[in-house]
Amino acid sequence: MASLVLGIESSCDETGVALVKSAGQGVPQLLAHALHTQMAMHADYGGVVPELASRDHIRRVLPLTRQVLQQADEVLENVDVVAYTRGPGLAGALLVGAGVACALAAALGKPVLGVHHLEGHLLSPFLSADPPEFPFIALLVSGGHTQLMQVDGVGHYRLLGETIDDAAGEAFDKSAKLLGLGYPGGPALARLAEFGDPTTYKLPRPLLHSGDLDFSFAGLKTAVLTQAKKFEGTPCDQARADLAASTQAAIVEVLMKKSIKALDQTGLKRLVVAGGVGANAALREQLNAACTKRGVRVHYPELELCTDNGAMIALAAAMRIDAKVEAPQARYAFDVKPR
Ligand code: KG4
Ligand code: ZN
Repeated sequence: MASLVLGIESSCDETGVALVKSAGQGVPQLLAHALHTQMAMHADYGGVVPELASRDHIRRVLPLTRQVLQQADEVLENVDVVAYTRGPGLAGALLVGAGVACALAAALGKPVLGVHHLEGHLLSPFLSADPPEFPFIALLVSGGHTQLMQVDGVGHYRLLGETIDDAAGEAFDKSAKLLGLGYPGGPALARLAEFGDPTTYKLPRPLLHSGDLDFSFAGLKTAVLTQAKKFEGTPCDQARADLAASTQAAIVEVLMKKSIKALDQTGLKRLVVAGGVGANAALREQLNAACTKRGVRVHYPELELCTDNGAMIALAAAMRIDAKVEAPQARYAFDVKPR
């Protein structure tokens, strides 16, 4: 039976709302999605200010919902399930999405479903023009997580390895800060790196030869700090670009080699890359090259769905329901799971 799922994402600094239509089998169809990023608002503070984030989600979520319904030429009354991000994320920010989702659902008399943010990222490539097939290896690289998973189907995830300290996105963001770049640092560092020589500085590749599939990026940040301090006064633009390029090369090499190791270990022939860092062009280039050599297909979400969005939340909810992994509930005492 066809059903309409409204999805709300509010875990960090992006308010995302989307509507997907599920036919009960196959990949649900994205009808419309809308996003408001708070990036400019937090830029002055050099990072996300949780209280400001929550307040802005409150301002944005209903107008975005209206916009999505209009785009899809739908009315709220036709929505069958309301999905929201249950976590992980900022507690106050999550509560806004959960509260609004449950209030809408209660008013409509429809069920709700709380979704794990990372499952949203993980399944987001299914909305691309080149969707993957199960099973696959997933490299999840966001601001808060770096994980390698074996994905056998919806709800069937096996953690193969993860970071023991900083996430890859955090390594990008913190290094960018040390280079005097604005927030968010990842894209800014990647832009500067285009003008630099990645072989200039020898930066560590922690755990590259550890034999397991875990990651560690805290030491890299320290090495970048040590190098940045050696620049006398204000480093010339070329030195900064070289350090940016060397930093990016170190992060990308570790992510690429561990992904290949996970593919080799499991014998799987498909790789899915998801999360904000998946937008990084150097990472895509290296993964594509290494995977092509091994006859492995790489799948990415559409660029606009790499970072946080409502589409992945509506999609994950619809896929969980279709796969009968979880049924939505007509209980509106909502909870969130920040961690
Ligand atoms: O998935 P995401 O939007 O939010 C989280 O759930 O964390 O990921 C955000 C992270 C940030 O650390 C950001 O700097 C990084 O993704 N990022 C990038 C790029 N675009 C976003 N890092 C490197 N290169 C990029 N092009
Ligand atoms: Zn995310």
